[in-house]
Amino acid sequence: MRSLMRKHLLGLKDTGREEIIEILDTAKELKPLVENPERRGNLLNKYSVLTLFYEDSTRTRVSFTMAAEYLGASVSDLAVSSSSVNKGETLVDTGINLAEMGINVMVIRHRMTGAPHLLAKAVDKYCSVVNAGDGTNEHPTQALLDLYTIREKLGGFDGIKVAIIGDVNHSRVARSNMFGLVKLGARLTLAGPSTLLSANMTRYHENVSATTNITEAVKDADVVMGLRVQLERQKAAAFPDLKEYSDLFGISPHVLSYAKKDALIMHPGPVNRGVELSGEVIDSSNSVIYEQVKNGVAVRMAILKRLIDGTEGYHGNIN
Ligand code: CP
Repeated sequence: MRSLMRKHLLGLKDTGREEIIEILDTAKELKPLVENPERRGNLLNKYSVLTLFYEDSTRTRVSFTMAAEYLGASVSDLAVSSSSVNKGETLVDTGINLAEMGINVMVIRHRMTGAPHLLAKAVDKYCSVVNAGDGTNEHPTQALLDLYTIREKLGGFDGIKVAIIGDVNHSRVARSNMFGLVKLGARLTLAGPSTLLSANMTRYHENVSATTNITEAVKDADVVMGLRVQLERQKAAAFPDLKEYSDLFGISPHVLSYAKKDALIMHPGPVNRGVELSGEVIDSSNSVIYEQVKNGVAVRMAILKRLIDGTEGYHGNIN
């Protein structure tokens, strides 16, 4: 029985442990649809999904599109760069106009923190909204696919150590993973240049620690996750140059020698090959980077199905 359904998925900070587990369980049931076209069906065949990407994306946008199509839903993409947004239409007005067309789920990525929450409030009476990444705030579906991958590979979260390395300050992936991992019982160490480690994350919970020493971070880790260096979000240079960053915080075979022997290597993508992770690490047998992408379709199917199946009778819950 669905216990904690919400109308929108805006972040993992406000998503309960049970709801996260239910999404991961549903994704496990649906993963065969990704791997076997014969299993794909019409679970959502009368429904419609719209993607609105105000920021660039490869994985998330296509993953939501495939997830909707594998469930039989119709899916459309608002080409933001050629839309009436360029004529000055606001996000709220755009959302209401599109919602009137009978959309069931809107998936939005936006550079502004809180844009999905604003859209959800505006279209609450019409449809569900999924946050596909807002500014430096959250990227909940990425974290859910990361959690799915960890659970699939390691069996659970109790007591495991996850090291997240890199541009923590600007990373919505790190924030959503932190909220999810803590709820599920993992220990988390954040590592990066001191200029990229903000106190509101490093002091979030007793199971979260922070260090500027990468080998300390990965010592005995079960999971080592690199983050993309987000030069576009840094208002001032947080480190002298990419070579120095890579020398100090790049994940190499030497760095990984401090982690557990079978530690999972993860990265949300897109990877700056040779900066956050060496090519050898990306292509190593411990790397699950491409499996993360596959699992992302299963997780997004679970989210779409859950939001559409559970929409009636539930109130919006926008925090
Ligand atoms: N991980 C992720 O969000 O990738 P895209 O920016 O390609 O969607």
